[in-house]
Amino acid sequence: MNIRVSEYGPMFSRIVAGCMNWGEWGANLEVSQVQKLIEECLEIKVTTFDHADIYGHYTTEELFGKAIKNNSSLRNQLQLITKCGIKLVTPNRPDNKIKSYDISASYITQSVEQSLKHLHTDYIDLLLIHRPSPLMDPQEIAEAFVKLKKEGKVKDFGVSNFTTSQFEMLNNFVPLATNQIEISPLHLEPFLDGTLDQCLSKKITPMGYSTLAGGKFFANTTNERVMRINKVAHQLGEKYGATLDQILTAWILKHPSGILPIIGSTKVNRIKSAVQSLDIQMTNEEWFMIWEASTGSEVA
Ligand SMILES: NC(=O)c1ccc[n+]([C@@H]2O[C@H](COP(=O)([O-])OP(=O)(O)OC[C@H]3O[C@@H](n4cnc5c(N)ncnc54)[C@H](OP(=O)(O)O)[C@@H]3O)[C@@H](O)[C@H]2O)c1
Repeated sequence: MNIRVSEYGPMFSRIVAGCMNWGEWGANLEVSQVQKLIEECLEIKVTTFDHADIYGHYTTEELFGKAIKNNSSLRNQLQLITKCGIKLVTPNRPDNKIKSYDISASYITQSVEQSLKHLHTDYIDLLLIHRPSPLMDPQEIAEAFVKLKKEGKVKDFGVSNFTTSQFEMLNNFVPLATNQIEISPLHLEPFLDGTLDQCLSKKITPMGYSTLAGGKFFANTTNERVMRINKVAHQLGEKYGATLDQILTAWILKHPSGILPIIGSTKVNRIKSAVQSLDIQMTNEEWFMIWEASTGSEVA
């Protein structure tokens, strides 16, 4: 099942594959393994892949690009998201003296050119500003976006980690397709700070990252909050014949804004498991059981 991310925005798969850990920052996959993983994702109808210029210290887009270069029919079957705006201190960028954000028009344009080259593609389906900068100028960002769209290099634009006021500000200059945000039973803020309300009122679909808290639920832990959540999720898993990750993903999927979970696993069976969680229809009370386990108390 594919979903339109905003009124005129891109069509993405309901479950998105996150590529942050595919390369140097995680599994260090070979090009052939990346190609296989992409093909396996497509088989289970996960067609949208989430990147950022910085992943793997600016190397993971290139790894992915090499994998799709070997099979020219792949590009049209998938959607590519990438991000820009964070400047990391790394031997791959010797000019960066401290970590900083740059969302000037020239940096956005230069970053997109690099991403196109690295990903071996003529266009990016969705470009996100990775993090808000205190120095961002919405007029300048909008002009860069409009030019990139006109040139056919980027189809749609959005943001990540933006507050509601930052989103509103930029959206007044150029229509944004999404806000990609951290959200999980260990990160409840978007439910409370207006982020999801804004998505609902503007009819845009949020994208959720670290929906499995980067794997924290699966590690041996003495963290009481994680243990409480896992206990409830296991109970629900017994009822639904589902695994822990499936219950946690179903919890995210239940929100009416239609959050698109970005699954960060590098293993296709785990990505497939997330797809299967689409079949779980958790009840309202069950959703609140996980909420209560997270906060440690019943709602007011
Ligand atoms: N916009 C932003 O600022 C931002 C920030 C962070 C991430 N992201 C995006 O979101 C994606 C996901 O982020 P994340 O990696 O933090 O999220 P995640 O999906 O919460 O966690 C993935 C991690 O959990 C592990 N894991 C263990 N059991 C798992 C299971 N059953 N199912 C899935 N994963 C399991 C995975 O290891 P294995 O590989 O061994 O399965 C992997 O290390 C990233 O790839 C990136 O595309 C965006």
